[in-house]
Amino acid sequence: MVRDFSGETAVVGLIGYPVAHSLSPVMHNRAFAQLEMNWVYVPFPVRPEDLEAAVKGLRALSLRGVNVTVPHKTAIVPFLDRLTPAAAAIGAVNTVINQDGYLVGDNTDAIGFVRSLREEADFDPAGSRAVILGAGGAARAIAVGLAESRAARIAIANRTRERARELAELAARLGPETTALALDSPELEEELAAADVLVQTTPLGMAGAGEAHLPVNENWLHPPLLVCDIVYTPLYTPLLAAAARRGCRIVPGWGMLLYQGVEAFERWTGRPPPIAVMRRALLDALQMSQGSEEA
Ligand code: ATR
Repeated sequence: MVRDFSGETAVVGLIGYPVAHSLSPVMHNRAFAQLEMNWVYVPFPVRPEDLEAAVKGLRALSLRGVNVTVPHKTAIVPFLDRLTPAAAAIGAVNTVINQDGYLVGDNTDAIGFVRSLREEADFDPAGSRAVILGAGGAARAIAVGLAESRAARIAIANRTRERARELAELAARLGPETTALALDSPELEEELAAADVLVQTTPLGMAGAGEAHLPVNENWLHPPLLVCDIVYTPLYTPLLAAAARRGCRIVPGWGMLLYQGVEAFERWTGRPPPIAVMRRALLDALQMSQGSEEA
């Protein structure tokens, strides 16, 4: 699809390294096209040593904003003018908004994850009990999102228990009761038995990275538990398949990806995006890329 740009085209994009496999351009560009907006989303590969220059460049070139991905999410913080409370709590930025040269660092992963639960599974985290598997960057955003949405209890189970403890302490400062476990702890079964939502954030189940392993025993999954996996390659991970077999509701990994993008779109443009169009673009691109890898 060739689009006509003009002197008034507003430019947003993505900085990361690498960026070639990102699904954000298709998601945002389809939304701009649907709304007939004179906007374009462009991926920019930025090497770590060029990050400061890239941030100066985005200000100099009057980009309206960018998404930020690996490896820049934390490294970009010193080059921005202000962080939102969400970005400060998570310690990472995934969205920059350029307000006439004043760069605001935000994080839409946390709110995007919570919105995916609300919109795709009609699940409100307020008062709920959550179990998060993993304690890395994604788990951090999810723990902050759940805590800020007034979850009652968050259990963090991680291969390295010390990291689970650090994240549990951070989440506890935002209100909920928290606990930290090792991923292979026998107490995980009890936590899951009482949980309303399970969120899987480790690479277990990812194509090419231990896909044969379920991070928890299938027999521990019981309705009405909602099971989310942030892995989206494959689209339906072994955990999601097991959860569905056991009668649990599921939110696949594209949920968080979609709604962090929806939230970024709203911040840059001030308009609500066509979510169904973005979802279709994302799922088509995911199915196409996964189909071609299998071929
Ligand atoms: P992300 O930004 O995707 O969360 P990350 O910050 O590198 O990535 O975090 C990866 C998470 O997956 C961590 O919780 C990691 O556990 P450790 O803290 O023990 O490293 C977890 N993880 C990675 N490989 C794993 C494996 N083979 N089994 C279990 N957990 C794993």
